[in-house]
Order: sequence, then C-alpha cells, then structure tokens
Amino acid sequence: MHAINDKVFITSVLNPNMRVFDVVMCTEYGTSYNSYVVVGSDKTALIDANHATFSHEWLEKVDEALGGGKPDYLVLNHTEPDHSGCVAACLKRYPELEVVCSAAAAINIKHITNLPELEPRVVKDGESIDLGGLTLQFVSAPFLHWPDTMFTWIPEQKLLFSCDFLGAHFCEPRLFDHKIVFARDYTTAFKEYYDAIMAPFGPWVAKGLDKLEALDPEVVAPSHGPILTKRGRLATGIEHYRAWSAVPAADTPRKISLFYCSAYGNTQKLAAAIATGIRKALPEARVCAHDLVDADMAHLGAELNSSDAFLLGSPTLNRDAVPPIWNLVAEIDAVNIAKRPVAFFGSYGWSGEALPALSERLATLKAAVYEPQFRVRFVPSENELDAAEEFGAEFARSLE
Ligand SMILES: Cc1cc2nc3c(=O)[nH]c(=O)nc-3n(C[C@H](O)[C@H](O)[C@H](O)COP(=O)(O)O)c2cc1C
Ligand SMILES: [Fe+2]
Ligand SMILES: [Fe+2]
Repeated sequence: MHAINDKVFITSVLNPNMRVFDVVMCTEYGTSYNSYVVVGSDKTALIDANHATFSHEWLEKVDEALGGGKPDYLVLNHTEPDHSGCVAACLKRYPELEVVCSAAAAINIKHITNLPELEPRVVKDGESIDLGGLTLQFVSAPFLHWPDTMFTWIPEQKLLFSCDFLGAHFCEPRLFDHKIVFARDYTTAFKEYYDAIMAPFGPWVAKGLDKLEALDPEVVAPSHGPILTKRGRLATGIEHYRAWSAVPAADTPRKISLFYCSAYGNTQKLAAAIATGIRKALPEARVCAHDLVDADMAHLGAELNSSDAFLLGSPTLNRDAVPPIWNLVAEIDAVNIAKRPVAFFGSYGWSGEALPALSERLATLKAAVYEPQFRVRFVPSENELDAAEEFGAEFARSLE
C-alpha cells in the first residue's frame, strides 16, 4: 500500500490508457485518479472518490487502507464525475459514511448520485473536522475549476489535498514528484493540464495560489498525477501557475493574431496583406499569422485565447468554412472570449458561406464581431490586396 506517511494512505487508481479526457483534452500520458485515506486516532476520512469505471478497484484499495475498519467521512473536494463517479457505490458499501463538501458540491452530488435522501455535511472556508490528532481544515477554492471546488488541509502535517489544482494527466506507478522517470513528459502534461482545465480561471488561480502559499505546505497531493513535495517540484509548479495566470502588464504590446486555412493560396494572400495593414496601423502590436494546416490545435488555441484581438480566415468549401478553422473555434475559451474583437476574411468561388457561418458562431460566443467581413472571389487582384491591407488597418484602428 502506497502512503504519504503513516496516517495518510494513497488509494489512487492508475489509468495509463486514457487518451482523451472530458471529450476535449488529449491525454497522451494517461492519468491517475488520486484519492487518499486519512486515519486519525478517533475518526477516518476518505479524501475524494473515483471514476465510476474504477469503482471496484478503488473500493478494494480503500478496504485495504482501512484494514477492516470503517470510514467516518468522505470529503469531496470537487464533484466532477472523475472523482465522484463511485460515491453511490461507496455509500452502499459504507452506509454510515458522512459526505463532507461545499454548498455547491452538495447540490451537485445529489444529482450525480440520484440519492435525494443524501444530506452532505456542508463546510465553509475555515471550518474543520477533528479526526483525533489530525485536523481536516477546509479551504474554499472556487473555480479551480468548478464552482464547488475546495482544498483540504491537514495543519499537523502541512499537507494539502488540492484537488485538480496543480494536477496533471500523467501516469507513472511511482506516485511522487521525486520519482518521476519521464520528467520532460510530466512537464508537458502539467502545462497541458493547466491550459485545458485551469487557464480559463486565471484570477481564481491567483487567489488559490495566495491561499496555498499562506499555508506553506510541505506536500501537495492533487487529484491527478504525481504528489508534489517541497524538496521536489512543488515550488516549480507554483512558479509556473503564477506565471501562467499573471495578468499582462498594462504596457505589454497588444497581440493580434490571424488564423487561416487556404487550399489554393488565395486566403493566405489575404492574410499576408491584412497582417501588413495591421502592422502599419499599429506598429507596436505583436502581429502573427498562423496557417492551420498541420498545426497543433491545442497550441494554436492557446495562442488565440491569449490574443487581444484575432482574425479568422477561411475559404468556402462545400458551403462552409473548412474543418481546421472549426477545430480552432472549438478551442476558444468561451468563459473569457466575451467582447474580444474578431474579424473574418476569406476567398470564395460562388456562394461564400464560410464567413457568415463563422461570424454567427463567434457572435453566439459573445465575441465583439467586427463588420464588415472581407471576402474576395477566387484569386485576389492587386486592388483587392490593397483593399485587404486597408481592411487590416481599419480593424487595427478600431481597437484603439
Ligand atoms: C472542394 C471545393 C469546394 C468548394 N465549394 C465552394 C462553395 O460551396 N461555395 C463557394 O463559394 N466556393 C466554393 N469553392 C471555391 C473556393 O472557395 C475558392 O476556390 C477559393 O478561392 C479557395 O480559396 P483558398 O485558395 O484560400 O483555399 C470550393 C472549392 C473547392 C476546392
Ligand atoms: Fe475536475
Ligand atoms: Fe479531475
């Protein structure tokens, strides 16, 4: 049985084969669903549950950690089903168990377990439960990454259960940071996890870090990936989260990005001319044009989401914008895109549906859709390229 110390056992289940998480996130390195058993002198608590698929395996581990005893509490730091999918099975096995969670989580868990009689013990920020020699202290951490999220802190051990915060979809059998074998892969997985799960909640990440640093933990045990220790990778992880969640300084040059596809180079020519126009109008801006074919979508999605304004360029093929552009649109951080200026351009042959379709979608996402769209029939002429440059300049001036 793996353990953090003689009172905290690790009941994590490894899923090395997972390749997609939550439909949207590619997970090249699998994952672990971490959970823990904390044994006090009077009471015992489970920290987080598991994915429903692994109910059986998880309950076996819990049994082993309990050594024949019964748990008193099940702390749910967050109710996403990768951690709550076996709560119902757990309650069936241990009917006396008291579920402990935030107010938001209490509502969610009723709908997840479909147990209307379930009445969790709702805890607020700062409340605690005495296990005998060990205290569970609850730290509200909303939007990291659901409204329900909290951390659980054991002051006697300076140990923080941080839920998804500082986690990674990464799966190595030795569960601690100082035992990682493929360190570069872990670094990649840690960043990808941040981008996919935490990035939309930058200000909340900063608040979570403030709380975490005030506690000054020796060990941070997240709900996915390796456990982080002070002598291992904890400081680096915190440093990364600080940098990634930082608000750019007011004098940071604006970033304006163009994303386009082009089957025959026509939309590409427009992209180049529009970029020139933007640069002339806003010489201090950082302007970058990205061809989507063969590009890494997750990377380009991050580029788009960190742009102050952006443009989407697509030809019309079979009455629509092309799939890579839609794939990029799917990477948009819908939580934070509202009011972000976006313009559209592209070449078409006869019907030209691409730009209206994209514009409609971005309007639904509440971006600040710029009018007019810039479209050209087939191959742009010299005049049309000049007009494209002027279109870029106009768009740039509209941002001032
Ligand atoms: C397979 C295919 C389907 C197309 N379907 C449409 C269409 O439905 N409506 C339209 O306006 N143009 C259509 N076109 C014409 C393209 O939009 C036009 O060739 C455009 O100039 C391509 O721009 P690009 O070089 O940037 O890819 C189609 C072209 C191809 C190759
Ligand atoms: Fe989650
Ligand atoms: Fe999770």
